[in-house]
Amino acid sequence: MSTTDDHGHIPVLINEVLEQLAPNPSDVIVDCTAGRGGHSVELAKCLDSRGQLILFDLDPENLSYSDARIRSETSLEPICILRSFAAAGRELLERGLKANCVLADLGFASNQIDTPDRGLSLRFDGPLDMRLDPSIPIDAEALVAMSDEKELTDIIRRYGEDPLAGRIARKIIEKRSEAPIRTTAHLARIIRESYGSRARDSRVHPATRTFQALRIAVNDELGALEALLNELDHGARRTTKGQVSWLAPGARLALIGFHSLEDRMIKQRFVEMDRDGLLERRTRKPIGPSDPEIGRNARSRSAKLRCAKVGAQVS
Ligand SMILES: C[S@@+](CC[C@H](N)C(=O)[O-])C[C@H]1O[C@@H](n2cnc3c(N)ncnc32)[C@H](O)[C@@H]1O
Repeated sequence: MSTTDDHGHIPVLINEVLEQLAPNPSDVIVDCTAGRGGHSVELAKCLDSRGQLILFDLDPENLSYSDARIRSETSLEPICILRSFAAAGRELLERGLKANCVLADLGFASNQIDTPDRGLSLRFDGPLDMRLDPSIPIDAEALVAMSDEKELTDIIRRYGEDPLAGRIARKIIEKRSEAPIRTTAHLARIIRESYGSRARDSRVHPATRTFQALRIAVNDELGALEALLNELDHGARRTTKGQVSWLAPGARLALIGFHSLEDRMIKQRFVEMDRDGLLERRTRKPIGPSDPEIGRNARSRSAKLRCAKVGAQVS
């Protein structure tokens, strides 16, 4: 089963995203997670010369790849911002732009997880890095080396939801006193050991949840999502009051999460904003991939798309 294409990543739920965002030719579109440009190139094709596309990514390689891809496949020149999407509102306000469409396709792209040197995957041995933004100072090796048992347990429990978090953290502390843990394979072995005979019953590799937890912690993924949701809330609040905002009246939002922690945060915030009259939820239940899409792209399996429309300006 394929999980990648010539660009290093297959965009998930592309038709559903296009249908929900329904871009007009003169729209301002914000892609918070440009990745390999899979979604943005299709969104760009909906724009004419009046439209603008703003791309965020904190991985410089992915941002410049999607920039080049859009320039070569369309006549559009995107505005590229090498920063976390947590700053989307501020960046748009500074440029005097109002978004009509906002997309965030959270997590990592296939090219990132498929590069052994980035240390994101259990399938390859590589340095224990896991940073999506190569400029941040603390990588997974440092996190595993510096955290105490309670901190490690909390990370694995909260972000990996692994019931054996305490055992895993204890084993990591024990083993790191014998030799520094520098590679993905070394860490995976230690976690397998901490599972003991339970490893045989585990459907996935016993280290899967811990790897997810460390990746989320290293990249502060939930902190960034919380900040984006705050920006959307703040922007929508101002829009509905007719104040200067980074969100245009009627802006369409499409957020794709890949695990329950992300989806829960998006769902709760959309419910609260709907209750406060800031937006209208377009999806009560998240949109997931069809069976044919899962057949074409195994990584789409856990995708959950939630969409909303920002309230119209109150005059
Ligand atoms: C799932 S991929 C996006 C794939 C893209 N939609 C495509 O079709 O090619 C997620 C991208 O978001 C980036 N990313 C993750 N967290 C981010 C953040 N806080 N701010 C900006 N970009 C982020 C990753 O570096 C990665 O390139």
